[in-house]
Amino acid sequence: MRAVFILVVMKSNCPIGVFDSGVGGTSIWKEIHRLLPYEHSIYLADSKYAPYGNKSHDKIVQLSIKNTEKLIDLGAKIIVVACNTATTNAISTLRASYDIPFIGIEPAIKPAALQTQSGKIGILATRGTLSSALFTQTSETFAKDIEVVEVVGEGLVPLIENGELDSPEMNVLLSEYMKPMIEAQVDHLVLGCSHYPYLIPKLREILPEHVKIIDSGAAVARQTKFLLEKNGILRSETTAPELKFYSNSDVSTLKLLLNEYQEASIEYLDF
Ligand code: DGL
Repeated sequence: MRAVFILVVMKSNCPIGVFDSGVGGTSIWKEIHRLLPYEHSIYLADSKYAPYGNKSHDKIVQLSIKNTEKLIDLGAKIIVVACNTATTNAISTLRASYDIPFIGIEPAIKPAALQTQSGKIGILATRGTLSSALFTQTSETFAKDIEVVEVVGEGLVPLIENGELDSPEMNVLLSEYMKPMIEAQVDHLVLGCSHYPYLIPKLREILPEHVKIIDSGAAVARQTKFLLEKNGILRSETTAPELKFYSNSDVSTLKLLLNEYQEASIEYLDF
């Protein structure tokens, strides 16, 4: 009995593992850290292989397995797949293959479809997400009676990976991608990629004021808390957590996006 108790305490002190194709999943990690400020965390930015959005389903599954195994090696107690493209293509394989709880991220079509007044919503996501079976299924379930304007955010992830949140090239692409949304008079824009919350200030300048921009970060954080509680592995200590970030490419954009977290360690790691 005592041994089981010690094991649970040890496990609850292990980190939350988070991975994304690159730096974008830090937008999700920030929501998790806001809600669970005492949890240790390890974040993997698979920037060497970004973007995932144009890769084949099989390649996305293979990369997701690689990241999962690294997080398990590093001692993660739960894994957040902070990437819509990886979730929509790989999460069922991951859940079937590993005995660790997973939380995925999917475009927030459901709340947008429930709240729309105009009956028209926009979704900006990668090709890999929009073409996935899971996305099609979610869309058919929750948005069958409304008009959904789908736009592939081609080229956005590489620019964000490069730290270009406000470059002339970024501005041109965003204006182009928002055009069909504005013309269709959508009243909600769903951000279906964890890199895109970093574009909200720019999108706000382009879109009419009444258009609501929705992302899934806060919902993922709530689900992470729920699953930690359900599995009895929420960290009980209230000392400062270890926040570790690894990239298998240049770490400068990761440093830029995590500037306000001076306590975080941000390093290169080959994985
Ligand atoms: N952050 C990933 C997502 O949420 C970006 C995908 C990519 O690398 O193309 O889909």
